[in-house]
Amino acid sequence: MNRRQFLIASAASASALGTFALSQAASRPLPIIPLTDLTEGIDARVPLNLVSATHDFGNGAASQTLGINNSYLGPVIRAKQGQTLPFDVSNTIGDVSTIHWHGLHIPGDVDGGPHQEIADGGVWSPDVPIAQHASMNWFHSHMHGKTAQQTYNGLAGILLIEDDASLSADLPQTYGVDDFTLVLQDKTFDAGGRMSYELTGEVFEEGFEGDTMIVNGAIAPVSQTVLTGLVRLRILNACNARFLELSMQTGTLTVIASDGGFLSSAVEAESILMSPGERYEVLVDMNDIETNALNVNLDGGGGGIYGGLFGGDPLTTLLTLSRTGDQGFAGSMPNRLANIDAPRPQDATVTRSFELQMDVGADLAALAMAWDNFCGDAMAMAINGQPMKMDRIDETVHKGDTEIWRIAVDEDLHPFHIHGCSFRILSQSGAEPPAYAQGWKDMVHVDEGWSEVLVKFEHEAATDAPYMYHCHILEHEDCGMMGQFTVT
Ligand code: C2O
Ligand code: CU
Ligand code: CU
Repeated sequence: MNRRQFLIASAASASALGTFALSQAASRPLPIIPLTDLTEGIDARVPLNLVSATHDFGNGAASQTLGINNSYLGPVIRAKQGQTLPFDVSNTIGDVSTIHWHGLHIPGDVDGGPHQEIADGGVWSPDVPIAQHASMNWFHSHMHGKTAQQTYNGLAGILLIEDDASLSADLPQTYGVDDFTLVLQDKTFDAGGRMSYELTGEVFEEGFEGDTMIVNGAIAPVSQTVLTGLVRLRILNACNARFLELSMQTGTLTVIASDGGFLSSAVEAESILMSPGERYEVLVDMNDIETNALNVNLDGGGGGIYGGLFGGDPLTTLLTLSRTGDQGFAGSMPNRLANIDAPRPQDATVTRSFELQMDVGADLAALAMAWDNFCGDAMAMAINGQPMKMDRIDETVHKGDTEIWRIAVDEDLHPFHIHGCSFRILSQSGAEPPAYAQGWKDMVHVDEGWSEVLVKFEHEAATDAPYMYHCHILEHEDCGMMGQFTVT
């Protein structure tokens, strides 16, 4: 029995589950996140207001959320290489926060890491210089000890960078028409249908995994009508901890870009495994097909909740695309995309090794009780034996150097992230990375064996505004699986 058949078969008995379960089965329209397009020019400072709000995820209940200019999540900001973005980030959430620009190659003092706190009632006004090429980036809370809950509650948004090549490329780029941004997350809702987040010892250990997928703040599946032609999906895994194995209902995924920009040529993949924090762009050919769907296999790397719920079939539809007759983007699948020189392994002058440690002997259940749903400065996980400390610099990098960073773990699968750069993956858990992960990245999967990345550091970060490197399972990060480095 596939999922659709299961839903039909269970509709008769759904009353036993109550109306909340029933409404979950219906398909909702894909929310198009409001766009702030700066590519034509910037004539004023750009406000980003961190607010507390209530939001309906599509089940009729008013959930307590955080948002950035919106009731949940932030805008999609579109900017261009060469611009300097004058943000005014104001905070009225009732707690201190920060906003980090994940993926941007920018100096440490505007990076928005845990040192650039924005007090409740305060405003942070960084001028963010965009030096890098076209790429999909994002921003989210990086408040040390509170990153997990603040990001879960909604403090995250998208920053798309375009450049001359991407703007003139033969690719779909009409926002909300043939170019869609998808923010994928998992949530848990309580009996009243309100979003909930509860830390336990187990959640500290595994990271928080919800039992309901949402897309752009609406409970999946969502649906969208599109024109005949190519459709571009820019996808972010913004889950706190869940890896997502994505596939199309029909055909392969045509992957054109990863975290740091375009691949050198498109890669066809049966499925892609996305860790929290990763971005991929894919093209879907809607020329000869009436409908297609983006599915997630929730047994693929991030737990089996859906596998149990849906009678052993772990495939869940996130987004259904249905075609109308009208002609849309008429271009063809590209073969050459980008030609940006990658660093060469033989240029690396420094090699550093990092061991991510889950188990440093802390009583996670006791910590969860003590910290009241925040991770606090829990010091319960570590890198190279040291839990993250705000006043300790772990590594000092020389600006302009090319380095090899080797990462290993004591147990389980973890997504490792470095601030202020993009890198190339030389090996991922001891093996060659899949073809779609061989372009520019700022995330690498680490389980057994060493993962190695080749990275050149081109921007400065001083002792009072260092860069971070960390596991992007946000509960692990908050728990201390993070370190700090300077570039001078
Ligand atoms: Cu997406 Cu240090 O974070
Ligand atoms: Cu980052
Ligand atoms: Cu981790």
